[in-house]
Amino acid sequence: VITAVHRQFGHPRGPLGTLVGWLMAVKNGRRSRWALALLAARPGERVLEVGFGPGVDVQRLAAAVGAEGRVAGVDVSALMVARGRRRNRALVEKGLVDLRRGGAEGLPFEAGAFDAAYSVNSAQFWTDAPLAFREVRRVLRRGGRAVIVVQPMEGGATRADSEAWLERLARPMAESGLAVVRQELGPFEPPPAAVVGLVAG
Ligand SMILES: C[S@@+](CC[C@H](N)C(=O)[O-])C[C@H]1O[C@@H](n2cnc3c(N)ncnc32)[C@H](O)[C@@H]1O
Repeated sequence: VITAVHRQFGHPRGPLGTLVGWLMAVKNGRRSRWALALLAARPGERVLEVGFGPGVDVQRLAAAVGAEGRVAGVDVSALMVARGRRRNRALVEKGLVDLRRGGAEGLPFEAGAFDAAYSVNSAQFWTDAPLAFREVRRVLRRGGRAVIVVQPMEGGATRADSEAWLERLARPMAESGLAVVRQELGPFEPPPAAVVGLVAG
C-alpha cells in the first residue's frame, strides 16, 4: 500500500490519484511560499513550472507575474493537467496560464522562452535528470534562473538525506550549463533542498 501511494506522488492517476492531488494541494503551503521566495518572480516575467501537480503554485506564480506575465506548466499526469486547468480556469481562459501534459525530459517549448523555471518535489521522479536539466536550461533565456526543490518524502528522512539531495540536484544542474548560485535547506523537517541556477551570459 505504501509503495502504491508513493508511486501516486510520481504520477497521480485514478481515484487514489485524486486523493493524492488533493493532499498535495492542501499540505504544502509553507514549503511553497519558501520556494517561491527563492524564485522571486516579478511582474511581467514568463515562468515555467515543471511538475505542477494540482496547480496551486501556478496560481501563486500567476499572481506574482501579473497581467503582463505568463505562466506555463508541464506535468506527466493527465489527471493533474485536468486538475490544474480547472483550478486555474479563469487564468487559462485569459491566456495568462498554459498547462500542458509533458515531461521534464522533453519540454514542449522553444529555446529561451522563459525568464524563470520552478519545480517543487517533482525532480525525484524525473526519469533522466541530466536530460531534464538540459531541457530546463534550453528553455531559459540568457540571464534566466531556475529554482529546483526536493523535500525527501520517505518516512524517517533526515537532514543528511536533504543534503544528499542538494548534491544530487546541483551536479546535473551544473553539467547542464546552469551556474549553481545558491544551495539552501529550508526551515522545515525534513528540510527541503533547493538549488538555484543561473544561465550565465
Ligand atoms: C509530489 S507531486 C508535486 C506537485 C507540486 N509541485 C507540489 O509541490 O505540490 C509531483 C508531480 O510531478 C509530476 N511529475 C513526475 N515526473 C515528472 C516528469 N518527468 N516531468 C514532469 N512532471 C513530472 C507528477 O505527475 C506530480 O504531479
